[in-house]
Amino acid sequence: MPFLFLIAFTLVSAFLLSKYLSKCQTKNLPRGSLGYPLIGETLSFIRAQREDRGWDWLEERILKHGSVFKTSLMGSPTVVIIGQAGNKFVLGAEEDVFAPKQPATMQGILGKQNILELTGSRYRLIKGALVTFLKPESLQNYIKEMDSLAKTLILRETKEKDTIKAAFFMKKLTFTMACNILFGIRDEYTIEALFKEFASASKALWSLPINFPGTVYWKGLRARSSIANLSLPILRKKREDLSNDAIIDNCITLVIASHDTSTILLSLMIRQLARDPEIYKKVLEEQMDIVKKREGKEDKLTWAEIQKMKYTWQVAQELMRTIPTVFGGFRKALKDTSYAGYAIPKGWQVFWSSDGTHMNNDIFENRKSPIPPYAYMAFGGGVHTCIGNEFARVETLTTIHNLVTMYEWSQLNPEEVITRQPMPYPSMHLPIKIKPRRLF
Ligand code: HEM
Ligand SMILES: *[C@@H]1O[C@H](CO)[C@@H](O)[C@H](O)[C@H]1NC(C)=O
Repeated sequence: MPFLFLIAFTLVSAFLLSKYLSKCQTKNLPRGSLGYPLIGETLSFIRAQREDRGWDWLEERILKHGSVFKTSLMGSPTVVIIGQAGNKFVLGAEEDVFAPKQPATMQGILGKQNILELTGSRYRLIKGALVTFLKPESLQNYIKEMDSLAKTLILRETKEKDTIKAAFFMKKLTFTMACNILFGIRDEYTIEALFKEFASASKALWSLPINFPGTVYWKGLRARSSIANLSLPILRKKREDLSNDAIIDNCITLVIASHDTSTILLSLMIRQLARDPEIYKKVLEEQMDIVKKREGKEDKLTWAEIQKMKYTWQVAQELMRTIPTVFGGFRKALKDTSYAGYAIPKGWQVFWSSDGTHMNNDIFENRKSPIPPYAYMAFGGGVHTCIGNEFARVETLTTIHNLVTMYEWSQLNPEEVITRQPMPYPSMHLPIKIKPRRLF
């Protein structure tokens, strides 16, 4: 019986596929393989990400087919477009050509009104609301609170301990910062409860879209409901002009977009500072210089001091280039279009990749000429460019400032590998041995 079913299934899918392909044949589609029906090349793509060989996966196909090729990912035929001009084509397109598109699980967890998937006036309304507390003028007011929060959390974490799991700690730290600074949630029990729920929700973003008791996705949806119940009474006071759904969807999106990404940048920084004594020395010098030059009695960071941390931020930027947090993204074609002479049929996906330019030495080795737009893609590009990049910079610099001026550290497992889930993450949560720095 299962065998008959399999044959029937194969015949039907072969029939549908051949009908579909013959429809496309008149067009000049890019070269490449659509892989198996439905699954396409999704499994090898995901496996490569997990083993942090995402670039190898792309490069293999670029060598075979060129920097525009077709494949099939996450259930849809996809045109992958590599390079600076390609990034500009995909991310700089008009809204009626390419629409944002996230995996189905992401929409389930983040909600239908999350900013990542909106377009038009709805998008502009939500973005306007979020930008009010992420713009530099607002950030200047947060620095003192961020600084003292970072100090308190670091001292508490390292109390009577000489080893910590740095990546895990960064998750807690950036989560607490997001709750405190972005939403004014300061109650420790609420934060602790939300932290657990957000961990389940994050995990479900990239799970299989199967909503059945016990699955990762099901747990994620339950977590979403608890998050709404826990935080809505607090958040409701803040934005009277948005619906409950819009508030919840975007608060969840903001917390996840802000803390998962910053966790990774901070962990990679801590790792790099442990591995490269020369970089460590220069970062330490820059940070100590700020402390020494401080004239007032108050030993809290200021906006002007953050601006002086130029070298430290360069280290961060270089890490985001070589190990991009976001490996790329999908968009959906709303109409037939074409790129470099190749057809992109309506309904297909396109995929842009940060590695596609980040790994190109012609762009990044020669630092004399300025880097062109749509080449450095750490924060994306076009209309949906990250609106939290300044927040991330201030948070990262404040945290590294406190860590470097208070402690020295080394990796417990220098062989620990980085995996992608799909963001890069140290496979053992980055255990480090720490030692208080003698004060100057
Ligand atoms: C190192 C840290 C961060 C990195 C690497 C990063 C990266 C990105 C990237 C690549 C995108 C574009 C996604 C796309 O076009 O598909 C994006 C969008 C976004 N990010 Fe960030 N991000 C970071 C931190 C933050 C923080 C701290 C916040 C909030 C406080 C934030 C909020 C957002 C939001 C709301 C969007 C969607 C913008 C839109 O759709 O218009 N991000 N981020
Ligand atoms: C959240 O609240 C609603 C309405 O009170 C309730 O039906 C739901 O079960 C709650 N969710 C969780 C996960 O507690």
